[in-house]
Amino acid sequence: MFKKLLKWSSEQHSHLPWRENRSLYLTLVSEIMLQQTTVQTVVNHIDRFLKKYPTLKSLAQSNEEEVCIAWKGLGYYRRARNLLSAAQDIQLNYGGKIPTDIDTLKSIKGIGDYTANAIIGIGAGKRALAVDANLERVIARIYAIDIEKGVKLQKEIYKRFYNGEILKELTDNNSRELNEAFMDLGRVICQARKADCVLCPVKRSCLSFKEGLVESIPKVVEK
Ligand code: ADE
Repeated sequence: MFKKLLKWSSEQHSHLPWRENRSLYLTLVSEIMLQQTTVQTVVNHIDRFLKKYPTLKSLAQSNEEEVCIAWKGLGYYRRARNLLSAAQDIQLNYGGKIPTDIDTLKSIKGIGDYTANAIIGIGAGKRALAVDANLERVIARIYAIDIEKGVKLQKEIYKRFYNGEILKELTDNNSRELNEAFMDLGRVICQARKADCVLCPVKRSCLSFKEGLVESIPKVVEK
């Protein structure tokens, strides 16, 4: 079902710096950066950060002031502090090795649901779903899940994912590529206000496309 999507993503988007020389540390750093910063801005700044902090240990030995200086240009500095705190926790309590099970990851200060699943699915290449705003929208549209955007919808996506109702095709073998392909699709084609369905590599399997629901899913309730 996602063959075309994987091909499209690997042909068009595999050049992103965090996709080359992948490691758990690089995934931790890049996914925290990518949470509230655009891909292009992260592309512009990540190399400088990694030059200063090439390893988890080097980051753990630093301090807030230095890390915030290296974070310049990325905004939302709370993430820089969270990243430092996660690195120090991992260095101290896990011998510098980033854990890859969900409960341990989520117990680390600075690592939430999204980052934990991104480390498992993208960093370790194990079956997991890193639901950010792009994935939430793309998955809701593909399966026509008509639930209000936000926590409720994310919970429903996880429920269906874990009970095998959706995304059976996502396995340890393709977890990394498929998670990132969904992100690419959401960023480039299946955008919130404008879905370019003509160009979409999953349009044939997209229930919202079939049923003319693309513009009304995910449901946005004005508050
Ligand atoms: N957004 C969040 N994580 C991403 C990734 N790994 N690639 C592209 N966009 C992303």
